[in-house]
Amino acid sequence: MRLPMATPTGWRREGNLPAELTSFVGRTRLLANLKRHLAESRLVTVTGIGGVGKSRTVLRLAHQVRAHYPDGVWFADLARLQDAGMVKHTISSALGIADQSSRAESESLSEWVGERDMLLIIDTCEHLIQGCAELVHELLEAAPNLKVLATSRQSLHLPYEHVVPVPPLQVPGEDPAESLFTNESVQLFAVRAGASVPDFQLDEDNIEAVAELCRRLDGIPLAIELAAVRLRALSVEQILGLLTDRFSLLAGASRTALPRHQTLRAAIGWSHELCEPAERLLWARLSVFAGDFELDAARFVCSDGRLPAEDITDLVTGLVEKSILLIRSNHAGVRYKLIDTLAEYGEEWLDKLGQSEQLRRRHFDYYLSLAQRGEDAWSGPRQIYWFVRMRQEHDNVRVALEYALKTPGKEPLALVLLSSLWFMWVCCGFAREGRLYLERALEANPMPSKERCKALWVLSYLKSAQGDSVGAQRTAEMCSTEAVRVGDSRAVILASKMQGTAALLQGDLQKASALLGVAIEFNTDNKELNPGLLPAIVELAIVLTSQGEFYEAESLLQDCLQVCTERGELWVSSYAHWALSVTRLHTTRLDLALDNARESLRIKRHFHDKLGTLITLETSARIYAAQKKVELASRLLGALHQNWRSAGLPMLGAPFLTVDHEKCVKECERSLGIDAYKQAFVRGTELDLDEATTLALGDMDAPS
Ligand SMILES: Nc1ncnc2c1ncn2[C@@H]1O[C@H](COP(=O)(O)OP(=O)(O)OP(=O)(O)O)[C@@H](O)[C@H]1O
Ligand SMILES: [Mg+2]
Repeated sequence: MRLPMATPTGWRREGNLPAELTSFVGRTRLLANLKRHLAESRLVTVTGIGGVGKSRTVLRLAHQVRAHYPDGVWFADLARLQDAGMVKHTISSALGIADQSSRAESESLSEWVGERDMLLIIDTCEHLIQGCAELVHELLEAAPNLKVLATSRQSLHLPYEHVVPVPPLQVPGEDPAESLFTNESVQLFAVRAGASVPDFQLDEDNIEAVAELCRRLDGIPLAIELAAVRLRALSVEQILGLLTDRFSLLAGASRTALPRHQTLRAAIGWSHELCEPAERLLWARLSVFAGDFELDAARFVCSDGRLPAEDITDLVTGLVEKSILLIRSNHAGVRYKLIDTLAEYGEEWLDKLGQSEQLRRRHFDYYLSLAQRGEDAWSGPRQIYWFVRMRQEHDNVRVALEYALKTPGKEPLALVLLSSLWFMWVCCGFAREGRLYLERALEANPMPSKERCKALWVLSYLKSAQGDSVGAQRTAEMCSTEAVRVGDSRAVILASKMQGTAALLQGDLQKASALLGVAIEFNTDNKELNPGLLPAIVELAIVLTSQGEFYEAESLLQDCLQVCTERGELWVSSYAHWALSVTRLHTTRLDLALDNARESLRIKRHFHDKLGTLITLETSARIYAAQKKVELASRLLGALHQNWRSAGLPMLGAPFLTVDHEKCVKECERSLGIDAYKQAFVRGTELDLDEATTLALGDMDAPS
């Protein structure tokens, strides 16, 4: 069973280009020019005014040149990012490598890019120009085969940067030899008009008016798109007349042309006025969302006495029809997005209305309640749904967190949201980001409280997931002390669990066994399946296996799997299968061990659980070596070597993994001989995590 869902980045090598949602028009020369610059230069910045088509052109280019970059074309959108301190993180996250490692971000980012032959697109840099320039410089220095393509309203001011301005589309009449019908602006108008009024046709009767309209709009694509949708209610002549009046008003009595950015603003302003008052208000309110959002969110965040929730659906439809909102639908449902320039306009409007604070608070409340629903549902049958959901809401979660962290008096809310999201940080591959935020929030909330205790055990969990067992230990101890002070028995138990995890990573089996035992014993009401009871059982089973108590380990794991099955829990069950494969490997029941390892990998694939996959691949390599499939094992060792690099501390530095790993390497070297081993190992280093998983699952042709 393989569910259809967007592949999170970093899992496969080809990149993460978004699809193009509407047809693309013209720009042949610009695209050729950009290709040439990109071939010659390592940094190309595409500049131009808002709405002129920077992002769209770059996206088109990216799709065209994708095949030239063996390690993929990667797209990072900074449009709604407010915090310069998060640029590096956002880019790492787009590349899918922000996930686990506790090492300095820049180190692992440039190290990950390393020799890779890839193109990184950074969309919308202008508001974070300094941070972007520094990062791009650092990356280009460290990674010899990397190319960067940026879009920005201004250049990055780096000496080797090639700046390519995106002019507006050619307007009719600019080239006297060109027919009005084939002009780019006219073409764009025609395709968008055809989308909103299906029987629209360019013909001799309307061509002059369309051409004049495109000239009036200076060939700015966004302005043309906004005008084209008005055709539902107005004729081309009427649109032209209204716009002309408006522009001459703005430019003073005379008909002198407006500067282009004013043309766009005026076109947007005009669109805005032509919206119903309620649509206008909704447009402003929707600007609090980052990236895309779903209808439910809009209904909750944007409604009040003036905009009743039951009207939101129709209003959203109205804004889609007017090209203010983009609509995207995939298997997970329908989502909407405000085009950047229009979001900015809405934001200003919201400020003028004095509703920014109120809306940002509603936005926060929505994502807090979503997080809490996700947390409650996590250990049940809809885990994969929540995994996909939270990945989709990542940008909005960030904005909500920034709101709470930066608004005086709201800091405690940040703690609550952050710790409800433990499953997103731990299980959906965002350990590092969760850690960054939690550390900030804990600093902002220094007084012991129940909220702080929860944040502390979550932080300890994250540190363990990064292989920082010393930090995890310290944080869990702090949690324990504070939990006793504030009388939070639940946190005391979880602190014990987290201390047990840290002890296991450090190889202190006795301590781990005692602490995990406490966490299991005092988990009386079975409410805390994960992160409490079930992971504690899996970890205790690993302790027991390391102590040679295989029978006890296996029976614990069988119980654990039974609970998982009853609840429909998958994430922990993949770890239980893995632990079972370790136990069975150690008792030389190799076929069974392999079955468990494979089942674990299959489940982990749904979650794109990088850390868990690496751990299970370690065990798979050992099983294959024991089955005398030594070349396969050696290739897996190569893949592991390569893929641990972007995941953090190899094998989490944990003896229960490193000891087996060393044994496996020795076995492979001995059986194959050093040279053949090295050859297989090197072939393995070519595999990304998904390919390595396929290999271990036996779905790839066995190596010859
Ligand atoms: N060549 C084109 N063909 C079709 N549509 C286009 C073209 N160029 C731009 N557009 C459309 O015009 C709108 C504005 O373009 P885009 O978002 O790329 O502008 P931008 O320069 O990136 O603006 P901003 O500075 O706000 O980021 C989008 O809806 C885009 O799809
Ligand atoms: Mg853009």
